[in-house]
Amino acid sequence: MTAALPLHQDFSLKHFNTFGIDAKAAFYLPVSDDDMLDAVRRDPDLSRMPRLVLGGGSNLLLTGDVSGLVLHMSTRGIAVVGEDERFIYVRAAAGENWHQFVLWTLAHGLGGLENLSLIPGSVGAAPIQNIGAYGVETKDSFHSLTAFDFTTGERLTLSAEDCRFAYRDSVFKHELRDRAVILDVTFALPRQWHPNLHYADVAQELSARDITTPDARQVSDAVIAIRTRKLPDPALIGNVGSFFKNPVVPREQRDALLARHPTMVSYAQPDGSFKLAAGWLIDQCGWKGRTLGAAGVYEKQALVLVNRGGAKGADVVALAKAIQADVMSRFSVRLEPEPVFI
Ligand code: EPU
Repeated sequence: MTAALPLHQDFSLKHFNTFGIDAKAAFYLPVSDDDMLDAVRRDPDLSRMPRLVLGGGSNLLLTGDVSGLVLHMSTRGIAVVGEDERFIYVRAAAGENWHQFVLWTLAHGLGGLENLSLIPGSVGAAPIQNIGAYGVETKDSFHSLTAFDFTTGERLTLSAEDCRFAYRDSVFKHELRDRAVILDVTFALPRQWHPNLHYADVAQELSARDITTPDARQVSDAVIAIRTRKLPDPALIGNVGSFFKNPVVPREQRDALLARHPTMVSYAQPDGSFKLAAGWLIDQCGWKGRTLGAAGVYEKQALVLVNRGGAKGADVVALAKAIQADVMSRFSVRLEPEPVFI
């Protein structure tokens, strides 16, 4: 194997996944320089191993030990790389912490990412599931990204269209899943910024603070306050944020459900379908605050599964299956997990 690479063997990933699951990687490599990926690809042993690319570890569930090579992106760097009449272009390395990056843009007077404040994870992971919150998604200010193609060894530049962004989804969860490693992401942040206050929680939080014309930093502060109230801090309680996606159903199904459950929460989608609030469905099934094995459902938000201490991936899987079964039998709705199962 390539001697110069700082490889670790039998390495615990407990502190590198926000669920805090104590699974081991057969081989672990912190990637502090993009060129290390070329070295991995050229190495006859490492190149044959199954690979797991790790960012902030906030969107994956380790269901057991990882038999191959974990590539932990830890590259750093944020810079303004261009501007035109409408946008300032900012590029960040994949290993940068997402929230710290958002704070960097705000400190430089740039708005656009404030609704995505305090989302755990790394910059490189943000496009993979098109992270979103409070009416904004990564795709809304995404410009392009660079990725390393393990199949060809080339650097690819992908546009928003190439990434095929959808709700908590992109090409990186499909065709490029085991092939591309995101190296850096460039965002186009508007010169003419307007707040996105369509989400009621954000508007309410600002009005409670007597703010009528917020700047981007004030929106960020409001989002941070809301998230801190509703979501567990992964540094204190292991979790991956929302564990399920909000299911999208046809209008007829939503109407039939609403007739039977008049308080059901749903949101109209541009294509005429409806997104249901998975948290509401799970809550109605009585799961909020419950525990099964060493995994549980967060007391303040039923969409978040938590590690009650020493949970194994199997505990979380068992809990998730029990919840899915209850929601299916009560509402005939299939809940799809948001994190990637490894
Ligand atoms: N609800 C309940 N009971 C619960 C939880 C929620 O009845 O235990 C109801 C709420 O009252 C509300 C509705 O469900 O009417 C939606 O809840 P909330 O506004 O908290 O948002 P969410 O649908 O649970 C989504 C995202 C979050 C994002 C928030 C805000 C998904 C899967 N989740 O959550 O994203 O922060 O909206 O935009 O789309 C994440 O992906 O990890 C994440 C935290």
